[in-house]
This record gives sequence, C-alpha cells and structure tokens, in this order.
Amino acid sequence: MSFPPTRLLPPADAALTVLGIESSCDETAAAMVRLERGGAWVLSDVIASQVAEHAPYGGVVPEIAARAHLRVISPVVREAVATAGGWGAVDAVAVTAGPGLIGALLVGLQAGKAIALARGLPLVGVNHLVGHLLAPFTRVVGEVHPQPAFPFVALLASGGHTALYRCDDAATMRELGATRDDAAGEAFDKVAKMLGLGYPGGPVIDRLAALGDPEAIAFPQAMRGRSLEFSFSGLKTSVAQHLAKHGQPGSEQGLRDLAAGVQRAIVETLVRKVVLAAQQEGITRVVLGGGVAANRGLRARAAEACAKAGLTLVVPPARACTDNAAMIAYAGAVSLRSGRLDGAALDARATWPVERALAHP
Ligand code: KG4
Ligand code: ZN
Repeated sequence: MSFPPTRLLPPADAALTVLGIESSCDETAAAMVRLERGGAWVLSDVIASQVAEHAPYGGVVPEIAARAHLRVISPVVREAVATAGGWGAVDAVAVTAGPGLIGALLVGLQAGKAIALARGLPLVGVNHLVGHLLAPFTRVVGEVHPQPAFPFVALLASGGHTALYRCDDAATMRELGATRDDAAGEAFDKVAKMLGLGYPGGPVIDRLAALGDPEAIAFPQAMRGRSLEFSFSGLKTSVAQHLAKHGQPGSEQGLRDLAAGVQRAIVETLVRKVVLAAQQEGITRVVLGGGVAANRGLRARAAEACAKAGLTLVVPPARACTDNAAMIAYAGAVSLRSGRLDGAALDARATWPVERALAHP
C-alpha cells in the first residue's frame, strides 16, 4: 500500500483541486472543486439519483442503495474527472466517510481509497453534515447567489437529518439541537406514502400545499417550548389518525388542504426553531440546507420570520441544498488545507457528530 501519498498538496498559496465522492444515501455523486483565493469553484458536479429504484418502497432501501452505488460509481467519477480537466488536474481525493448507510458509504469509500492509492494522491474522509454546512460556499461560474459569512446558524433538514448548528468557522461547528425521531424530509415522505402520492413526498406535498388552505386541518407542532430539538413522529401518527377517521381525501381540494396542513406543521416548527436558535446564540445570520430547503413554503416563511426578527437569511441554490459531491470536495479541501490526511484505515461511520469530525485526532 502506498499510503501515505506520493504526491504532495500544492503549496498553500496555490490552487487546490479536489475530487469529491459522495455515496452516503441514495445519490451517487462525484465532483471536482478548485479552491483558490477567489473562492471554491465547482468545475464539475455529477449526480446519479436512485430515486426511481427506491420509489416502489416509499423510502430508501439500504441494500438497494449499496448495489446501485456499485453499478454507477465508476462512470460517475470518470465523468466528473473528464469534464474538469482529466486526472492530471486532481490534487487530492475527498470522500464521505459518514454519517450514512454503511453499505452505501463503503462503495464511495473504497472508490476513493482505490483512486488515491493508484495515483498516490492525498485522501481525506469528510463528514457529510459538515459538507452540507459548507455547501453554500461553493460557487459555479455565472451563478448569482448570496454567500453566507461566519458566524451563522444553520438549519439542515433532509430525508435523513434535521438539526440546527452554530457555525463559527469552517472548523468550528456545534449542534444546537436535532430531531429525536424522524427527519423533516422523512415526515414529508411518510405522509406522502400514506396518501399514495409516491416518493419522494416533499416535492409533491409542496406543490399540493401551494393550492391548499393551511388552516383547514390543524396538525400538531411538537416541542413547542424553547427546546431546539425536533420531533416529527407524532405528526405522522396524527395524519394516520385523521385518515382512519375521515378516510382518504375525497376531492383534489381536500388533498390540497391536507397537504397544506401537514406542510404548515413542519414548516412552522422548522422556522420557529431556527429563529429561536439564532436569538439564543446571539447570531444574526441564518442559512438553510438539505433537500427540505427546496420547500417553497419553508423558504417563504423563513424569509418572513427572519426579516421580522432582524436576521439575514441565506438560502443556497437547490444544487447546494440537496446531496452532492461538490460540498464534499470543498469540505475535503478545507480539511486538507488544515493539515488533515487519512489513509488505508479510513472507515465508514453510521453516526458521526460534526464536533467529533472537526476535532483533530
Ligand atoms: O438532501 P436530500 O436530497 O437527501 C437526503 O435526505 O440527504 O433530501 C431529500 C429529502 C426528501 O425527504 C424529500 O422529500 C425532501 O428532501 N424534499 C422536500 C422538497 N424537495 C425535497 N421536502 C419538502 N419540500 C420540497 N420541495
Ligand atoms: Zn444529505
């Protein structure tokens, strides 16, 4: 084994180009990011989604995810490298090492190790959540969106995670509160499944809710106090109870109203807690991330609530909210620049708090 790498990182004042690989859940992704003084530029960003393979089951099936990653990882990586200058342009490899589905993570991890080993490149394992929290700093030429500035409070809401973080800089992040049970995206997905709306449920409920009356059916909002923890499993139960009592909605408008009621319960909770977190921490900047940040209701309510509370809100473009490898490449570049380096012993972790990931061994 030729770990440690035979190739050194470019000097600190030179650009650093990192190949990022992500396979923690149901997206196989690879991207090239060039870190230079002017920012972190996304040179390529390839994503193969497995949504269609999991759709019949209404959620991600770990075994199917791992096999699907294995099928597409090579072409996905090759395309990301080829469209960004070829192998000669790659200075280092960053790969998601957790948290996530172990079987899924191992595919990306082995690919990353094999590439690093074969090419003598530095390798670094990246925490998927740190990737999400740094994603808003990645830039695409021609894309116009506001960049966040540290410190900020971030709400990360996806199919697998829902948590609040205080981010002081790229190496100092702390979880302020997380869900005790289901993630917000999972709540959208489970309700959609009960309503026979397919998978993933978030986008469908978002569309229906826009035409519904959020006041028609009041669903509970759990953890109403000053706690920064979330709980969404009660919402799922109360939708099930509503359906048991009233049956499936008999009209399109009935379905829209139900979707609007569910979305309201989720969105109000998320928005209230992110504002509360910022106030408790004395921080004036708020960033949204994760697939649920695509929700139009959440974006609108967060904008309204932040404006009212005197907070600056940054909602990154959709490509930076959902799972992608550009955020992994960028987080890896930052980590490598801080002196971190992994080797053959790098392992997959099902759970991995950001605080522990950022602490140097
Ligand atoms: O970040 P992501 O692409 O993958 C991970 O789960 O890590 O997030 C996917 C989740 C799914 O649960 C999906 O239903 C939800 O994000 N989602 C949405 C919307 N678009 C995606 N939830 C609410 N409204 C949306 N527009
Ligand atoms: Zn994610």
